[in-house]
Order: sequence, then structure tokens, then C-alpha cells
Amino acid sequence: MIHSRIIGSGSYLPRNVVTNAALAQRMDTSDDWIRSRTGIRQRHIAEANETSSSLAFEASKAAIASAGIAAQDIDLIIVATSTPDYVFPSTACLLQDKLGIKGSPAFDLQAVCSGFVYALTTADLFIRSGQHRCALVVGAEVFSRILDWNDRGTCVLFGDGAGAVILKADDQPGIMASALHADGSHAGILSVPGNICGGKVTGDPFLRMDGPAVFKFAVRVLDEVAREILAKCKLQVDDVDWLIPHQANLRILESTAKRLGLPHEKLIVTVDQHGNTSAASVPLALDLALRDGRIKAGDKVMLQGVGGGFTWGAVLVQI
Ligand code: UT7
Repeated sequence: MIHSRIIGSGSYLPRNVVTNAALAQRMDTSDDWIRSRTGIRQRHIAEANETSSSLAFEASKAAIASAGIAAQDIDLIIVATSTPDYVFPSTACLLQDKLGIKGSPAFDLQAVCSGFVYALTTADLFIRSGQHRCALVVGAEVFSRILDWNDRGTCVLFGDGAGAVILKADDQPGIMASALHADGSHAGILSVPGNICGGKVTGDPFLRMDGPAVFKFAVRVLDEVAREILAKCKLQVDDVDWLIPHQANLRILESTAKRLGLPHEKLIVTVDQHGNTSAASVPLALDLALRDGRIKAGDKVMLQGVGGGFTWGAVLVQI
């Protein structure tokens, strides 16, 4: 039977770090409000010449090096992003070209902050079908470009970055189980309700969010989907070594761990340093914890996404 395993990871953050104090000089907010409501201390913001594909390229090079493969070994590229470089071609095609490879399929996947979990599940299914053997799966975002910097209720929450993994066919799992969900009836609580039409922006090109409604929804579904995955694998919460939920708000992460009965020490937190990087948040956190040695070979890691759509999902992976 064919399974898929994560054999390498990488990430990249723009050099420009913006602290809460720096934001407080530009708008009516404070370090205290941002830290107490969200846990965020700083975020990285892309320079004008950086795009999702350029951040994805840096993260991908690091993932390829850590996997010990050549770019030519990759036969599938999926990029999860809601902030693509262009309307088309896809960020995945631009990334493929930057990597100097061609021929294999490359496409973007749009599930907002659940994007990486959706993309990883998709790549796993491609590999388990036998059609592909070595996938590059990336979450890359420049959310700073779709923020209304006059809306203090949203602009302080997000940051830019990219994370990537190499997923390879293997006879041992790897990816143990996954579950994906969506409920489009909640589209209105988190959206960028605009488009381009006839050379102009139609609607609203900025991120709009009903924060408290998103908060409640996220805490409920992250708990539900974690239990769904554990039931699928016939495992208990104690069997999970690390929980990496989408990094939106420290209070959401802590509530999720608490509801599950998972000790705080098993929670990987990067939201304090990165803010919410949407589809990039989970692979960024995974790469960080693999590189600093917290996550070790054999560990079972629960990855969770939740975001606009509404979309949510989880993947249980053995490293
Ligand atoms: O990736 C998935 C998407 N995002 C999320 O998961 C985010 C989910 N939601 C949240 O994280 C929280 O709801 C927020 C952090 C967005 C807001 O926290 P809250 O505790 O729900 O605050 P609130 O929206 O109820 O606002 C409380 C107060 C308001 O003032 P009044 O009306 O009580 O006087 C806001 O105007 O805080 C005010 N406020 C701010 N004050 C200082 C809102 N933003 C700011 C700010 N600085 N940046």
C-alpha cells in the first residue's frame, strides 16, 4: 500500500519586522490591547518587491535542502494561498518556474487559513493514488496587501510568510488521517468581498471580519475536527505529541488545547512572533518546531486549519 511521508520542511519570513509598538505609533491601538486579546507581539511584513511566489520560493528551497532531494525530483506542486501574485497564472506555476523545473502539474488551492491542511490532504491523496511520488506543498501569503490599514480591528492581526513541506511516497504512513470541511453559509463573517472587473476594483478589496463570530466558530470546529481525526485513527488525545492549530489568536489556541484536555506544553505557538499568516501559519510553525528539535522522528503531530469560507480541517501526521 502506498502512503505519504513528510521528508523535509522549510519556511521563510520577510526581514521587515513590525512590532505592536510600531503599529501604536501609526493608529489608535496599544501593545497591551494586541497582546492581551491575541498574544501577538510582532509580525513580518513583505517588502514591495516580495510576493507570495517569492516567499514560497525561499521556503521551498529550504524544504528541498532539508529533504535532501533535487528540485527535479518534485512531480507535483500545490500552493495554498489567498494572496496570489496574479489573477493568473497560478502562484504554483510561477514557483515552478523559479525552481527551474517544468512538466509536472502545479496549481493553487484556495481555502484561506485552512489552505495548507487542504493542500496537504490533496497531495496525500495524489500520492496514495499512485499518480505522483514527490509533492512540494506550500502555504504562502502576503496578507499585508489585503488589509485595511485604517481598520485597527483587523490590520494588527495578520503578517506575511511562507512554509513548505516535501511529501514523498513511502510504504509507511506518514499521513495517518485527515478530515476537511466547509460551510459556505458563514462566508460573510470573514471575507475580502471584492473583485476586479473591467479594469476596476468592484466591491471591497480589503479583509473584513466579524472577530467574535470567527472566534466562537474556530474554537468549536477545531475541537470537533480533532476528535473526528482521533476517532478515525482509534487514538486518544494522549497519543498526540504536538498540536499545531492555525495560528490566529493565542486565546483560540489555548481554548482548543484546553477543550481537548491537551497539556499546554504540547501546543506549538508562533502567533506571538508571526501574527496570523493564514495558509502559511501551519507549515511555518511545523518547520520551526522541526528545526528547533521539539518535534522528533516518530512524533504524532495534529495540524489544524480554520478560516474563511468557512473552511476547516485537520491532518494527523507521524514524522
Ligand atoms: O484566521 C482566522 C481568522 N481570524 C481569527 O481567528 C480571529 C478571531 N477573532 C479574534 O481573534 C478576536 O475576536 C479579535 C482579536 C479580532 C477581537 O477580540 P475581542 O476580544 O473579540 O474584541 P472585540 O472585537 O469585541 O473588540 C473589543 C473592543 C472594541 O471597543 P469597544 O467597542 O468595546 O469600545 C474595539 O473597538 O476593542 C476595540 N478594538 C481595539 N482597541 C485597540 C478593536 N481592535 C482594537 C485594536 N486596538 N487594534
